[in-house]
Amino acid sequence: MDIIPVGPGFAAELRGVSLNDVAHDDAAYAAVRAAFEAHSVLVFRGQEVTDDIQLAFSRRFGPPEVTKVGSLGTGSHFVILSTIGPDGKVVPPDHRYALRNRANQLWHTDSSFKRVPALTSVLSARIIPARGGETEFVSTRLAFARLDPALQAKLGHSFAWHDYNHSRSQIAEGLATPEERAALPPVCWRMVWKNPVNGRSALYLASHAYAVEGISPEAGKALLDELTAAATAPGTSYMHEWKSGDVVMWDNRATMHRGRPWPAHEARLMVRTTISATESDGLASVRRPAQQAAE
Ligand SMILES: [Fe+2]
Repeated sequence: MDIIPVGPGFAAELRGVSLNDVAHDDAAYAAVRAAFEAHSVLVFRGQEVTDDIQLAFSRRFGPPEVTKVGSLGTGSHFVILSTIGPDGKVVPPDHRYALRNRANQLWHTDSSFKRVPALTSVLSARIIPARGGETEFVSTRLAFARLDPALQAKLGHSFAWHDYNHSRSQIAEGLATPEERAALPPVCWRMVWKNPVNGRSALYLASHAYAVEGISPEAGKALLDELTAAATAPGTSYMHEWKSGDVVMWDNRATMHRGRPWPAHEARLMVRTTISATESDGLASVRRPAQQAAE
C-alpha cells in the first residue's frame, strides 16, 4: 500500500489497496486504519463499489449507523444523497432534496447532532455531474494546532450544543420536519476531541453547533463563528474532485467538510455509510461530565 499525500498537511490517497481487501484482510485493515488515524481523509480511486462492498469495508471501523428518519435510506445502513426524484428526473431547486444539498454545503462534521456521534463517513460516487459537486475538507486537528495556547486550554474545558434543526433552519425554515426534530433533540459535546491513538487534539465543530455551555447565546455564536472561520481559512482545504469509482472516507473527529454546488439540472447520486464512534475512539472524553454521571 502506498500513501500519497494530497492535501495541505492532511488527506492522502491510498494506492495498492481496495475496499474489498480491507473488508476481508486483517493486515489490510490495520494498514488503512493507521493511515486513517494519521491523515484524517483517505481517498480510494478506481474502486468497484457495490452497497455490499461499501458496507463490509465500513463495518471494519465500527458499528454502522442506522439512517435516521427523514433521510433517503431511512432504516438501512445507507444514506442516499440524490437529486433524482421518484420519476427519474432531477428535482427542481426548491425541492427538499435540493435544499438538503444546500445544507450540506455548510461546513460541518457528520452526526455531531446525534446521541452517538460518528467516527467516520465513507462516501462513494455513483452518478456525478460533469463539473462541480466537489467535497471540500479541512483539518480541525491542524486548525486546533494553529490556535493560541490559552484558547486551546479554554476550549479543552468548553462544551458546545449541537442541533440538526439549527443547521437546517439556516437554509429554509421547516427543512427539518417535526418528526426529525422530535427524534433529534440537541446534544452537547466537548469542543476538543483528542485522538486516543496519537494524542492529537482537534476542534469539534459543525454547522449543527449553535451555543456554548456557560456563556451567552451571542458570545457562544461569536466563538463558534470565529473558530469556524479560523478552521476554514483560505489555503487550508483539500478539494476532492469526484471521478467514477472514487470512495472517500474521513475522520469526523478531526475534520469538517462541505459539499460544493453543481449545475442544478445535472444529476448527482452519492451513497454514504457512517460508523458510530465507540469508547476506543475517545467517545467518553467528549461527553459532558454531568452527562457521564447521568448515564
Ligand atoms: Fe456531510
